[in-house]
Amino acid sequence: MPLPDIHSYSNPGVSRVRHVELDLAVSFSGKKLRGAATLSLEPAGRTLVLDTRDLAIQRVNGSSAGFTVGPRDQFLGAPLTIDLPAGTRSVLVEYETSPRASGLQWLAAAQTAGKRHPFLFSQSEAIHARSWMPVQDSPGVRVTYSARIHAPVPLKALMSARMVRDGHFHQPFPIPPYLIALAVGDLEFQAVSSRCGVWAEPSVLQGAAREFEDVEKMVQAAEALYGPYRWGRYDLLVLPPSFPFGGMENPCLTFATPTVIAGDKSLVSLVAHELAHSWSGNLVTNATWRDFWLNEGFTTYIERRIQEALYGRARSEMEFAIETGELAIEMKELPPGDQKLAIDLKGRDPDDGMTQVPYVKGALMLRMLEQKYGRAKFDAWLRSYFDHFAFQSITTGQFVGYLHETFPDENLQAWLDQPGLPPDAPKVTYDFETTPGKSWSTQEWLHWLRQMPEKISAAQMAVLDREWNFTDTGNSEVAAQWLLMAIRAGYQPAYPRLEQFLVTVGRRKFVKPLFEELARTPEGKARALAIYRKARPGYHPITQATADAILK
Ligand code: BES
Ligand code: ZN
Repeated sequence: MPLPDIHSYSNPGVSRVRHVELDLAVSFSGKKLRGAATLSLEPAGRTLVLDTRDLAIQRVNGSSAGFTVGPRDQFLGAPLTIDLPAGTRSVLVEYETSPRASGLQWLAAAQTAGKRHPFLFSQSEAIHARSWMPVQDSPGVRVTYSARIHAPVPLKALMSARMVRDGHFHQPFPIPPYLIALAVGDLEFQAVSSRCGVWAEPSVLQGAAREFEDVEKMVQAAEALYGPYRWGRYDLLVLPPSFPFGGMENPCLTFATPTVIAGDKSLVSLVAHELAHSWSGNLVTNATWRDFWLNEGFTTYIERRIQEALYGRARSEMEFAIETGELAIEMKELPPGDQKLAIDLKGRDPDDGMTQVPYVKGALMLRMLEQKYGRAKFDAWLRSYFDHFAFQSITTGQFVGYLHETFPDENLQAWLDQPGLPPDAPKVTYDFETTPGKSWSTQEWLHWLRQMPEKISAAQMAVLDREWNFTDTGNSEVAAQWLLMAIRAGYQPAYPRLEQFLVTVGRRKFVKPLFEELARTPEGKARALAIYRKARPGYHPITQATADAILK
């Protein structure tokens, strides 16, 4: 039995949800989902506690009595407590979502590529599933699910499951609730292989399918390392630019930001990353958000292995060098407690744990183990780990216990419970080219820009801009880095592009540092507030919360 999850009110020890059946109508005019969730229980005790957040619960088992919704906590939402008559094995909850549901973004047609149809997508990780369905919203409580989605014609509904037929979905494998996902929009499909393909708005589809054409090879590379891909199809869905993350590993259907479509496949490590979650995260899952590094550290390590298999060691090391550089930059600002792998999230939003630490420090620890014991032995252990814990949710302690079965003397205390990087942390070095050229990849430009002096002047920025046209780059990573430098240097010719970028792109990784940098001076803060007034309505609730905290 996993540790109690401090981010869920649910009582799986008494009554545990095993299967969720959704029947939901999508109303774009009301910005709500409306319908019912039928939950199958095993065991079924005399009470059932579910997580909710801003849900309007109308009836439970056809009655408006026999249940209570508790007070709302700002992070956790509100518990829904249901009395169960003896022998009750299933519960029907009729409900509707709030237009402000933290796990949904409702986009107006103007915010899409095609500008003709609205768009809806969910983002359930970490604890937002509860804002669009009543569930035991803990990663330790795995469920299978089926769904019937009523979307307005001609829009297409997609979910993190097998599409049985239009609007009907089934996920036969038990997954944590944070992996239940839905998107509705003007979406078309292009196949890449018999089991892989890309969904996107029509005008984006061709470019996306070309960018992601290596996806089948990635699946094969991962299978060669860690065993068969168990989820049937592996498709990608390209979302509008307000998607708050780079990617989300929804089973069978990774959600991805359009900002990784660089035109030269230089950002496809994101696909390797989300695909890797099919083993680390979706098959073997963190039991609580304290164990988040088990998801992301393993995945970042596997991402490197997939990239190496497809594109060679040099490219993989170059990408890892960029990632470790980002870890070093972020670590300088983080309180010591958040530099541990297993972090204390008591009284906090688990989304706060999403720093580079679980990702890159976690991956470095696994690389340390690989180097210490040798690839052959470590790969075999890792493969056995996925088979051993398949379809289970585990804690950091269970990982350590299983590691000790093969490597009994390994002591990971310094990695797990101490801030910073331990002395045995591997150094990731890559010899970057120093003379820029048209053939440079995203990572080479990023490295080159990041090693410029902090105090670069506006005049020097102008020289760089004349030569390389950074202000007008279509590459989102390079643009974000350049705009950060433009703010620092007070380089005014980039300000219109800064505003345009922040108004169109809602990816938190870009939005957050740009607003933070602006907020450092009174004049910058005024500019930030003026931009934010225009940008905020188009942002996802998660990005809104992040920017609100910076600009409050
Ligand atoms: N699972 C994460 C996204 C996530 C984490 C969402 C925590 C909500 C809470 C996903 O796999 C991820 O790590 N995405 C990264 C991209 C990746 C290439 C590092 C992102 O979105 O930046
Ligand atoms: Zn991830």
